[in-house]
Amino acid sequence: MERIKDAISKARQSQTQSGLNKSLSPSRPRRPAPDVESEKIAYSETTVTELDTKQLSSNRIITFDSEDPDSVAFDVLRTQVLAKMDENGWNTLAITSPSPECGKTVVALNLALSIAKQTDKTALAVDFDLKRPRIADYLGLKPKASLFDYLEHDLEVKDILINPGFPRLVVLPNTVPVKNSAETLTSRRVKSLVHDLKSRYESRIVIYDLPPLMAGDDAIAFMPQVDCVLLVVASGETKPIEVKEARRQIQSTNLLGVVLNKSSERQTHYY
Ligand SMILES: Nc1ncnc2c1ncn2[C@@H]1O[C@H](COP(=O)(O)OP(=O)(O)OP(=O)(O)O)[C@@H](O)[C@H]1O
Ligand SMILES: [Mg+2]
Repeated sequence: MERIKDAISKARQSQTQSGLNKSLSPSRPRRPAPDVESEKIAYSETTVTELDTKQLSSNRIITFDSEDPDSVAFDVLRTQVLAKMDENGWNTLAITSPSPECGKTVVALNLALSIAKQTDKTALAVDFDLKRPRIADYLGLKPKASLFDYLEHDLEVKDILINPGFPRLVVLPNTVPVKNSAETLTSRRVKSLVHDLKSRYESRIVIYDLPPLMAGDDAIAFMPQVDCVLLVVASGETKPIEVKEARRQIQSTNLLGVVLNKSSERQTHYY
């Protein structure tokens, strides 16, 4: 545990040294999000699907419930993430980890829901773990079409986006593993999709759930297409050497921070 904390603290230090605040190329003017101008959002093109909150909780997706004590940690994470992103004019965030099963998908979905609770933002969670897509499963979604169909059958983006019943949250799920995943993530079609998702709405934060760095070159290959990255490590599982190697691999991307997940330390006080 101490060793993980040391590794994280070193990662944070070197993140500051490597210029977290360096600006990206000037962002293009984007449309103000029509969907954040009023509390009541009407989705005209996006499919709306109500979710089973019990199933969400059993999959550790809990930030829809502000009373859940664990949602506070995600709200704090959201505030820190948004502060850094706003400061730098960033709106796209990748989530990855050194090794598998650190909790990336759980963090990505909870963070997206937490962001969507804020009335001045919308969140879009994109399943770009093309080998092991899980977002649809975790949310209990059974979409008729998903990213796979967009890639293989020339569907339009609006045909695969889903609003899972929470205002200001949209999901781009995938239900079928995609072959040649790293090549796909750097293909012209995906680049154009990423560009479209980034530039369509001014107040939208796009979160890409990626595979782990150790599982191949997908995450590294995709990284140049996002503004910044959040690294998820699992307490008691991720080794310091893995954190170090992960930092090396993503050194040319803006590291927003490291999330220590699966910690057994509990918040025992009200504040
Ligand atoms: N904070 C946590 N405490 C306990 N278990 C957790 C926590 N976060 C996630 N898990 C569990 O760990 C497992 C892996 O979670 P998740 O699928 O989010 O990880 P992942 O990093 O996305 O995995 P993969 O590398 O396969 O994409 C799941 O069973 C999930 O419920
Ligand atoms: Mg995952």
